[in-house]
Amino acid sequence: MPIIWESKLDTGIDVIDHQHRRIVDYINDLEIAKTKGDKAMVTDVIEQLIDYTQSHFGFEESMMEEAGYKFIKPHKKVHELFIKRVTEFTIRAAKGEDIADELHSMLAKWLINHIASEDRDYSPTVKLMVGQGAAAPEQAVAVPAARPGFISGLLGRFFR
Ligand SMILES: [Fe+2]
Repeated sequence: MPIIWESKLDTGIDVIDHQHRRIVDYINDLEIAKTKGDKAMVTDVIEQLIDYTQSHFGFEESMMEEAGYKFIKPHKKVHELFIKRVTEFTIRAAKGEDIADELHSMLAKWLINHIASEDRDYSPTVKLMVGQGAAAPEQAVAVPAARPGFISGLLGRFFR
């Protein structure tokens, strides 16, 4: 079953939602490749998905940092653990093991859960920084002024 985008996955930050949707597309592509039994496509999609997700994490972390998000450290840790887990899969795959099913279900569960919970949590703070939200009273003091131009610079740094 392909993952269908739901509103609970929206952070409300356009640039992030766009990247998250792309990740979901990759997960769905992996399912298609798997169903077709196309091994070359499976390998290809996995490679692209990992590469894109890593760039996305870097992008997200820079945004959280710039916005002064309080829980950036644990969030980064979660990203790190995820990359570690995925790396273990790629090691197994390199040894010839067929990991497509297991990886697909891990990605579908983990990433969707991460987007719906941890990523939504930074949303109010980051929204302020990109000029996409109104300040909650307790945030108004701690968060730097909106810097919409920050995004284009970051995109160039993390995505080709
Ligand atoms: Fe994240």
